[in-house]
Amino acid sequence: MAGSARSDSSMTDDTPRKRRSVSVDHFSTARLTAERLRENHLAELVALHCDPEVSRYLGGVRTPEVTKAYLATNMAHWDQHGFGLWTLRTADGAYAGRAGIRHVLVDDVDEIEIAYALKREFWGQGFASEIATALTDIGLSQLALPSLIGIVYVGNTASRRVLEKSNYLLERSKNRHGGDVVIYRIRQ
Ligand SMILES: CC(C)(COP(=O)(O)OP(=O)(O)OC[C@H]1O[C@@H](n2cnc3c(N)ncnc32)[C@H](O)[C@@H]1OP(=O)(O)O)[C@@H](O)C(=O)NCCC(=O)NCCS
Repeated sequence: MAGSARSDSSMTDDTPRKRRSVSVDHFSTARLTAERLRENHLAELVALHCDPEVSRYLGGVRTPEVTKAYLATNMAHWDQHGFGLWTLRTADGAYAGRAGIRHVLVDDVDEIEIAYALKREFWGQGFASEIATALTDIGLSQLALPSLIGIVYVGNTASRRVLEKSNYLLERSKNRHGGDVVIYRIRQ
């Protein structure tokens, strides 16, 4: 089924009252495979972040050094929380981009957001909608998170549409790091 996640999750705690500890290192959707972000994904990530169109609503083009630090931060996120960013590939193994579920501080509140960025050649084919649906499913069902948010620059129409199609509701607008963003949320 398009957009539904099939993962190799393994439960380490079956007690219903406790939060489950889930490993979701790999999962796949109808057209994409997702692999936990690793050190050897650096070159692909650097190339993605160097595209000014891709980075337009991601805070601008990042230097290789900044992306290297970004990779380290996001690998540490996996170690700490058991989820984070995945590298996305198409069925033929081509690098398609990155997506993830991660902690983010918004107005001093610890929130969990979904994030996605695709190589330009893969835009407009429904890939982001497919991966956002899968991330939402993993976050709410497998990780049992109470809610997920999406933070999007007001002008990023495509990303706003991705969230709306995944049943996120517009919550509020705010200024963040000097830019006008909107926050969407989905709850259990
Ligand atoms: C935003 C992004 C992930 C969308 O990826 P995508 O695979 O092209 O999105 P989809 O094909 O799933 O399209 C989602 C919806 O947005 C619409 N859309 C796509 N591009 C659009 C655009 N430029 N303007 C308006 N709507 C657009 C699509 O028509 C679709 O809606 P529909 O199904 O009702 O027709 C992609 O453009 C990207 O990687 N951008 C750079 C990184 C980024 O901005 N990430 C999001 C940060 S919040």
